[in-house]
Amino acid sequence: MPLALEATQTTVSIIENVQIAARTYRVRFECPAIAESILPGQFLMLRLAGCDDPLLGRAFALYDTVDDASGRATMVDVVYLVMGKMTSRLARFRPRQQLDVWGPLGNGFELPEVDRLIMVAGGIGQTPFLALGKEFLGHRAYGNSPQSAVHRETATLLYGVRTADLLAGEHDFRSAGIDLRVASDDGSVGHRGFVTELLAEVLDETADEQCQVVCCGPEVMMERAAEVCVKAGVPCQVSLETPMACGIGICFSCVARVRQDDGTWDYRRTCVEGPVFDAECIEW
Ligand SMILES: Cc1cc2nc3c(=O)[nH]c(=O)nc-3n(C[C@H](O)[C@H](O)[C@H](O)COP(=O)(O)OP(=O)(O)OC[C@H]3O[C@@H](n4cnc5c(N)ncnc54)[C@H](O)[C@@H]3O)c2cc1C
Ligand code: FES
Repeated sequence: MPLALEATQTTVSIIENVQIAARTYRVRFECPAIAESILPGQFLMLRLAGCDDPLLGRAFALYDTVDDASGRATMVDVVYLVMGKMTSRLARFRPRQQLDVWGPLGNGFELPEVDRLIMVAGGIGQTPFLALGKEFLGHRAYGNSPQSAVHRETATLLYGVRTADLLAGEHDFRSAGIDLRVASDDGSVGHRGFVTELLAEVLDETADEQCQVVCCGPEVMMERAAEVCVKAGVPCQVSLETPMACGIGICFSCVARVRQDDGTWDYRRTCVEGPVFDAECIEW
């Protein structure tokens, strides 16, 4: 996995904060140091500047970077679902209000040479996959990583939502050339049922292709996706969203149980050794 680059900590001004689906917003802010270095699968910590409730920052995956008029990546997009304290307050923030931000953090995805990337998202777990899909298809380069600007054939996003109103960023994924297939619990959009059922179907269809699966969302969904991949003999990476307090390896609030070479397991900090792990290493 690529190592985290040195993180920047700064205060930024919001450029826009727009609703893109039910309870779901995209916030854009200017931060060239992060926009130029962050990689798909890495994350940022955000805090509402000048506000001590909540006191701790929250982790958010990179959704995408945005260029200025000269073609330089200077802005960062984050997509968030309104859940609790921080996100419900952030949703009321307006342009020019400020956020404390530190990042890029974590390891990011590692993409082997495969024909097809299959991204599996549950709910707001879709956020790391726009940048990853664009990078895989060679549509956008991120950071200085040698894995940037590869040109591969197909990136499929299997995106499970509870209901149609929560489907966020559909246009972004489709216009990036990502093959988007949706599942919903209530059948209001796409396949009625679990996104892991779509995964089993796609792996069947693509049995002759070299595939890599990457997955982000509720733990139970990722565990099921990992089982489907083991059965199909396809490698799977998962991006864990364990709650985090510091984001920089100090507090150990984010640990996950990760299997080691000798078969035993140990705790690993998701913020520095993750959030992306090989699924077969996770003790679910
Ligand atoms: C690496 C990483 C990337 C993330 N990326 C995104 C992203 O791109 N978009 C996004 O909307 N969120 C993302 N999250 C989750 C985000 O960090 C916050 O946890 C979430 O926004 C809730 O914050 P809050 O202050 O609004 O809610 P809080 O007031 O903290 O909590 C509201 C409720 O949610 C529960 N909760 C909090 N965090 C989690 C969690 N991680 N898993 C399960 N339950 C939880 C709490 O127990 C509580 O019941 C990510 C988390 C991690 C670790
Ligand atoms: S969030 Fe503090 S060690 Fe990971």
